[in-house]
Amino acid sequence: MNWDEKTIQKIKWNGEISNLEQKLQIAKKIAKKVKDGDVIGIGSGSTSFVATKEIAKRMKEENLHIIGIPTSHEINLLCNELGIPTANLMDKKPDWSYDGADEVNEKNWLVKGRGGAMFREKLNIASSEVTYILVDDSKFVENICDKFPIPVEVTPQAINYVRNRMFEMGASDITLRLAKGKDGPVITENGNVILDAIFKNVGENLEKELKEIVGVIETGLFIGYNVIIEK
Ligand code: A5P
Repeated sequence: MNWDEKTIQKIKWNGEISNLEQKLQIAKKIAKKVKDGDVIGIGSGSTSFVATKEIAKRMKEENLHIIGIPTSHEINLLCNELGIPTANLMDKKPDWSYDGADEVNEKNWLVKGRGGAMFREKLNIASSEVTYILVDDSKFVENICDKFPIPVEVTPQAINYVRNRMFEMGASDITLRLAKGKDGPVITENGNVILDAIFKNVGENLEKELKEIVGVIETGLFIGYNVIIEK
């Protein structure tokens, strides 16, 4: 038996999608890479949202079967609505993944997590042979933290400790991310909160150093992962 389709309203992107034309072009490119039988890690954010819809279109038109490994509730819901079967990393290993980013520098270091999904995004990327990072022109920066803070997912009990440690490590500003549509902080898929931290002069050890702080679950800083930038 299936659920009544009206139970959940049609999944729309929450607000306006910036640079939609460019995101659509990149989405069509990524949809062409799909092969029948692929297990694909699916990132979060508006670019992944647009790409997932293009992939679903190709699946329908060409009768392709794939399995998606979604990285957030919103992408999981979208997959359900589009008829893309899903699995998780305990069942399947992705053949490849795709995802968006908030910032990319010339060394392909990334900042991700504007949507709060960086933990499962990093797990998918680490588990995949290769990940395509889909970025429009607005994402390229000279220095990490030029446009976005680094999101740090923290277990709620540890927010004061982690905040103090990050200031000692050179953070210039740290804010607790607050929810829209709910009072209080954003709660991640894993039941944690997010501290958005600005660091100037980000070095190649910062990701590891942040991860070593007790109470830090994951960060949105991605240094040295096997990614291909698609623009
Ligand atoms: C989700 O938590 C993020 O990591 C997104 O992948 C990133 O913020 C890019 O989002 P857009 O594609 O909406 O720019």
